[in-house]
Amino acid sequence: MKRNRFTILLAGIAVSATLAAQVYLDPQAPVEQRVEDALSRMTLNEKIALIHAQSKFSSPGVARLGIPGLWCTDGPHGIRAEVKWDEWDQAGWTNDSCIAFPALTALAATWNTDMAALYGKSIGEEALYRGKNVLLGPGVNIYRTPLNGRNFEYMGEDPCLSATMVVPYIQGVQLNGVATCVKHFALNNQEDGRHVVNVTLSERALYEIYLPAFKAAVQQGRSWSIMGAYNRIWGQYACHNRRLLVDILRGEWGFDGAVISDWGGVSNTDEAIRNGLDLEYGSWTDGLTEGRSNSYDAYYLAMPYLEKIQRGEVGTDELNEKVRNVLRLIFRTSMNPNKGFGSLCSDAHAAAARQIAGEGIVLLQNNPVGKGKQAQPVLPIDASKRSILVVGENAIKQMTVGGGSSSLKAKYEISPLQGIRERAKLNNAEVHYVRGYVGDIGGEYNGVTTGQNLRDDRTSAQLTAEAVEAAKTADVVLFIGGLNKADHQDSESFDRLQYHLPYNQDQLISALAKVNPNIAVIILSGNAYAMPWLADVPALLQAWFCGSETGNALADVLFGDVNPSGHLPFTIMPALEDYPSHQYGAAAYPGINNEVEYREDLFVGYRYADLYGQKKPLTYTADGRNFTIYPPKHKPLFAFGHGLSYTTFSLSNIRLTGSAAQGVQSVAVTVSNTGARTGKQVVQLYVAPRKPGIVRPRKELKAFAKVELESGHATDVQFEITDEMFRYFDADKHEWVTDKGVYDLYVGTASDNLPTKITYTVK
Ligand code: BGC
Repeated sequence: MKRNRFTILLAGIAVSATLAAQVYLDPQAPVEQRVEDALSRMTLNEKIALIHAQSKFSSPGVARLGIPGLWCTDGPHGIRAEVKWDEWDQAGWTNDSCIAFPALTALAATWNTDMAALYGKSIGEEALYRGKNVLLGPGVNIYRTPLNGRNFEYMGEDPCLSATMVVPYIQGVQLNGVATCVKHFALNNQEDGRHVVNVTLSERALYEIYLPAFKAAVQQGRSWSIMGAYNRIWGQYACHNRRLLVDILRGEWGFDGAVISDWGGVSNTDEAIRNGLDLEYGSWTDGLTEGRSNSYDAYYLAMPYLEKIQRGEVGTDELNEKVRNVLRLIFRTSMNPNKGFGSLCSDAHAAAARQIAGEGIVLLQNNPVGKGKQAQPVLPIDASKRSILVVGENAIKQMTVGGGSSSLKAKYEISPLQGIRERAKLNNAEVHYVRGYVGDIGGEYNGVTTGQNLRDDRTSAQLTAEAVEAAKTADVVLFIGGLNKADHQDSESFDRLQYHLPYNQDQLISALAKVNPNIAVIILSGNAYAMPWLADVPALLQAWFCGSETGNALADVLFGDVNPSGHLPFTIMPALEDYPSHQYGAAAYPGINNEVEYREDLFVGYRYADLYGQKKPLTYTADGRNFTIYPPKHKPLFAFGHGLSYTTFSLSNIRLTGSAAQGVQSVAVTVSNTGARTGKQVVQLYVAPRKPGIVRPRKELKAFAKVELESGHATDVQFEITDEMFRYFDADKHEWVTDKGVYDLYVGTASDNLPTKITYTVK
C-alpha cells in the first residue's frame, strides 16, 4: 500500500496511543492499575506460567510483555550460593559468596529493634546485589520444643518478642526493593515428619501464640510475600489451607502480597486453586523425587490446572487473582523503579554482622571465683591472664556450611579460636588449643565445602586426658562447644535426638572444671540443652551461630570490649521432661500416626514455667477440648528474658503517667547503671491479670526496650499502655476480647526477675 503523509501521521498517533496505554510499564502509575493492565494483556498460558517455578529458585515473568520474573533466595541468614537450574547442587559460581549474618536466634536475643532493622537492611542489600527479588525468610515459627532442629532459624518462644523483632527486619529488607517471604506459615514447629504431620490445637493457642508474629509481619511489616509451611493443620496442608490462607491471611489480615509454597509443599491441584496459594515452587511431582530434575509442566498449578480450565471444570477467577498477587510482587521487586544496586560483602555488612552478634550473645552466668575479697568473675578476661586454653571442636569448626537451606557460602568465617587469638595478642597472652572432643567432621552442603579437615581418630579418653592436662596450668580455660549444623543437631529436616550436648561434652566440661576453676563455657547452638555441670562452672555464655564474624564478636564479649547485653529468647529447662510439649508422650511430640496435638495449649515456654509451685494440674475446656496442664516439677535453669552484663542495673520508681481521661497512659520506670561500665539493659514489661475471667497465663510479655547507660547514669523507660495488652482471643466469638479487671504490670529484666510492679485497672 502506498502511504501518504497523512496515513503515516495517523499510524504514529495509533502507535503512541498503544504505548501510552501500557500502564503496566509506567512506574508512576498506581500499582493496582499496572496490575490490571498487565493482566488484561496476558494469555491463559502466560498466566499459568507466571504462577509456578521454572527452575529451583526462579519463576518466569512474561517475556513477550517485557515483565521480568522472580528470583528467590534463601534466607534467612545470608544469600545462598547459586544452585544449578534444576538441582540443589551449587552451580559452582565464583562470585556468589556472602556475609553470613548471625542466626535469627542471635538476632532475637539482642531484644533490639535497631539490630533487626540493621540486619534487614544489610541482608537486603546483599540480596539486591546478587540480583534476587525474594528473600526466603525471616522465620518466625514459635519455639515449642528444644528438639526442633530448625529453632536456630527462628526468633524464640514468645509471640511479642518475635512479632516485635520481625517487623524492622522486613522493613529493612524491603527498603531495597527485595521482598521478604516470611516463613513457615504456620505451625512448622518440628522437623520430624514435617511433610506429613497434622497439627491440631485450640484456636486460642493458634491466635495467641503461633500467629502474632505472622500477623505483625503482614500488617506492620507489610511483607510482600509469605511462605506456606509443609505440615498440615486441622487436616489440610498449610500451603493450601483454607482457614489459614483465605480466612485468616487475606480475610482477617488483609494481606495483599503473594503466598509462595514451601519447596515441595503443594500436593493437590484443587486445593491449591481454591485455597489461596499463588506461586508454586519446588514440587516433586509425578514420581520425580526431591533432588531429581523436576518437570515444571507437571506442577500442580501448571498443566493440571490449565487442563481443568480447558475442560471447563474450573473458571479463571482464582487464576486471575493469583496472577494479580504475583504481578504485584513483581512490580514491588523485579520491576521496582526505586531500587538501587545493593552491595555484597561490604565492610558495613561485616560490621553489622559483628555488632548484631555481639549484642545477641547472652551471658548466662558469671559467678566470682576465689575466696573473699580476692574473688573475681572469670569474664571479662583481664590482661593478667597470660595463658589461655581453648578447648572444643566448635572453636575451630566452620559453621556457616550445613544446617539445611540456610547453609551459606560465606566469603569468610572467623572461627572463635581465630578471634580469640587475634584479641589475646593485645594482652600479650598466649592461646593454646586442644580439641577435647570430636563431633562432626563433615563440612559440605550441596557441593559447598568448608575445606576443613577435622578428622581426628583419637578416643574420647585420649582427647579428654590431653585437655585436662593442658587445663591444669592455664590461667583461664575457655570451653567452646555446643551443637553444630550436622543432621540431628541444629539442622533442617531432622530434629535432635537428645536434650544433652552430644559427643561426650558433658563429661569433658566436668573434667575440665575439676582441674581449673577459672573456666568459662561457651556454647554455640540455636537450642537449649541440659547442663549437668552448671554448678561446677562459674561462667557460661550462650553464643548462638554467629556467621562470618563469630570469632570477632565472641572475642569482643570475652575480653570486655563489648559489654554483653543479650537476653534469652527462650526458656532453658533442666530436662526435656520439663518442657510442656514433652508432658504428654508422643501424642504431643513428635506425634502418633502423624497426628500432633498441642496439648500444652497456651502454656509454651515461660507461660508454662510460671506454673511452677502450683499444686494441682490446671484443667479447662477450650474449643470443646479438655486440657490438663501438669505444673512443672522444676524451675528453669535460665528463664526467658534472662541475660547478665559486666555492669549492674537497678530499676526503681515505677509509675503510671498520663491519665485515663486523656486517653493515653504509660507505665514508666527509672533504670540506673549501678556498676562500673557502660552497658545496655533490656527492660521488659509483663502484664498479669489478678483474677482473669478465663484461664490465662500468669503473665505475658507485652513490651520491651533496650537502653544504653554509662556507669552512674539513669534514664526513664516508658511503655504506652494499650488495650491490646489485656486481650485474649475468645474462640467462641472468634474475636479479641479485653478482659476487664485488675492487672499487675511488672517491669524487670527477665521473666523471673521483675522487681517493680504497679497495679492497673481495666474498666
Ligand atoms: C525450606 C525452606 C526453604 C526452601 C528453599 C525448604 O525445604 O523449608 O525454608 O526456603 O526449602 O530452599
